[in-house]
Amino acid sequence: MRLGIVGAGKMGREIAAVAESRGHEVVWKLGSKENAGGSGLTASRLSTADVVFEFTTPSSAIDNLLALGGQGARVVCGTTGWSKDLPRVTEVFARGGGTLVHAANFSVGVRHFFELATRAARLYEPAGYAAYLVEEHHAAKRDAPSGTARTVGTIFEMETGRPLPITSIRAGTIPGTHRLVFESPEDEVEIVHRARSRAGFARGAVWAAERIAGRTGVYEFGDLLKEVE
Ligand SMILES: NC(=O)c1ccc[n+]([C@@H]2O[C@H](COP(=O)([O-])OP(=O)(O)OC[C@H]3O[C@@H](n4cnc5c(N)ncnc54)[C@H](OP(=O)(O)O)[C@@H]3O)[C@@H](O)[C@H]2O)c1
Repeated sequence: MRLGIVGAGKMGREIAAVAESRGHEVVWKLGSKENAGGSGLTASRLSTADVVFEFTTPSSAIDNLLALGGQGARVVCGTTGWSKDLPRVTEVFARGGGTLVHAANFSVGVRHFFELATRAARLYEPAGYAAYLVEEHHAAKRDAPSGTARTVGTIFEMETGRPLPITSIRAGTIPGTHRLVFESPEDEVEIVHRARSRAGFARGAVWAAERIAGRTGVYEFGDLLKEVE
């Protein structure tokens, strides 16, 4: 596939490396200077890419997604912090006839972590355990709590009817750690996902790009994984 990358940062670089190792070609990369308000996403640029990756910042993602969706592009978006705008983005992709896969976390390990969180909430909360989540990311991460932590919070609230206390740490170069804890006066249970690098996120995002060839519509990464589980 021919790929375009919007956001030439840490994830953009990792995605390019994984995609090239799988035989895909990165035909263009756009940074913030060439793309204020999505202005670099021209029809002629989009015509050269089969799939566009969008990994930028919470404040840029909406303009980019509206520009991409309006032109019927096929997009994999991993930028976090814009989920409240998902209905608007979905409508634009539906009208434009494009394809979007989005996820706050493209790691398969985290997907299974969500399943474990669901099961754990069902078991420990009724047994009287108090739950909390601590998430740690590198100092440059702009949103807090992380999109992944919010998803675990939503899962927990759906299962128990209570909010999950979440604490965020931003320090150093941590790629991403999520620690879900259940504690009672007698003991403590922890479920931990610790990303070792960004490669797992990039691999999931490239896999998603390969899965959506020939499709239209809006998908969450988990929808695609369920098709192969
Ligand atoms: N879903 C997942 O699995 C996953 C995994 C890791 C990270 N993320 C998320 O992905 C996003 C990017 O993470 P990162 O670690 O790559 O961050 P990063 O290293 O800070 O890179 C973000 C890049 O986006 C660029 N950018 C900002 N606005 C832009 C625009 N309008 N057009 C084009 N490029 C623009 C920035 O360029 P300048 O430096 O020139 O401003 C920067 O290079 C974040 O939201 C992060 O939370 C998701």
